[in-house]
Amino acid sequence: MNAVDSMCSQAQVIVTCGTGGVGKTSIAAALGTHAARAGRRVVVITIDPARRLADAIGLGGQLGNEPQRVSLDSTGELWVCMLDVRETFDNLVRDISPSPQRTEEVMNNSFYRSLSKSLSGTRDYMAAERLHELQTDGRFDLVIVDTPPSRNALDFLESPERLARFLKHPIVRLLAAPGRGGLRFANAALTPVLKIISSVVGSDALTGVASFLKVIDGMEDEFSRRALAVAATLRSNATSFVVVTAPAPDALVEADHFVSELKRLGIALRLIVTNRMPPRFGDTSSAAEHASASANSGDISVAHHVLAELWEDVEQAERDVNDFLRRSSALFGSVSTASATELATDIHDMRSIGLLAEQLAGSATEQ
Ligand SMILES: Nc1ncnc2c1ncn2[C@@H]1O[C@H](COP(=O)(O)OP(=O)(O)OP(=O)(O)O)[C@@H](O)[C@H]1O
Ligand SMILES: [Mg+2]
Repeated sequence: MNAVDSMCSQAQVIVTCGTGGVGKTSIAAALGTHAARAGRRVVVITIDPARRLADAIGLGGQLGNEPQRVSLDSTGELWVCMLDVRETFDNLVRDISPSPQRTEEVMNNSFYRSLSKSLSGTRDYMAAERLHELQTDGRFDLVIVDTPPSRNALDFLESPERLARFLKHPIVRLLAAPGRGGLRFANAALTPVLKIISSVVGSDALTGVASFLKVIDGMEDEFSRRALAVAATLRSNATSFVVVTAPAPDALVEADHFVSELKRLGIALRLIVTNRMPPRFGDTSSAAEHASASANSGDISVAHHVLAELWEDVEQAERDVNDFLRRSSALFGSVSTASATELATDIHDMRSIGLLAEQLAGSATEQ
């Protein structure tokens, strides 16, 4: 079985990562379509600020936290949703709060309100939390996570453990201690944790932090438990990481970065997708075309010369990509690959997503 078929039929979670514009969102949608065609119930969660996926599948304005079903001619199902940080956080609080009154208190807390809309770390954690919800949602067998165009896109992998550590920190416990006006005790030697919090949210908000921690008192174990459950899933065999790249030199440098990030995090690299490859046309080469250009004269020679230059681009892209694949294999032993060419149009509808899916499955190495 090839690497794309086996991943799409077995994985419970697939994460696509790579630098801006290489096609992460398009590849996430293509893999989702392929898995749905193989009979699986798939949900793709995108964090695409440009809403490209939403437009491509024709769900434009409606896409939010709640998965929407895409019409697809297959036995499986394809659903899509877009991360809404605030809504995910509110749902989480509602879910683990012991009473509606406590939910109300958390929602009205000023620190909670700033936390749920401004901190980038919150977005990472909520992406992980949303993944946990979708993965335990009985409607789906496979969750595909599309990451945002950021060099730090994999930070969300560490955010659950960071949160769990944060909640267990002695200063946090002290602040949360009921009825002891935590801040009074902590003030003297503003510890690193408090400094970090105050540099992000402002020192005024620190009082809000203390009351927030009191309000969530008793709920933090459940916060931690869920955070660690997500962390475990992301590191297990159930999750497949896909690095997407294009042949451009900048994109390949960034792809090297993502591959070494995965290595650093102790996560296996399941598949490399080289997308937007220049298509091969005919069965020739730059050398053959240069020879034909010399052997002919006039317009025919010019035409062969143009073809030779196009072939040089193809050969250069293939050399650069092969070098990258060799570097990645050196880090990970061996790595499965699949590729797709630059299509004549951009990926703007289900038809082009389908074409991409066929190319990926058709080019994948054996597993
Ligand atoms: N194989 C392809 N052929 C033609 N166009 C492509 C291909 N792959 C991606 N594109 C186009 O390139 C652009 C970027 O693709 P996409 O949004 O999937 O990339 P991304 O990596 O998710 O980008 P971002 O980093 O901005 O989230 C889009 O306009 C898309 O239609
Ligand atoms: Mg994207």
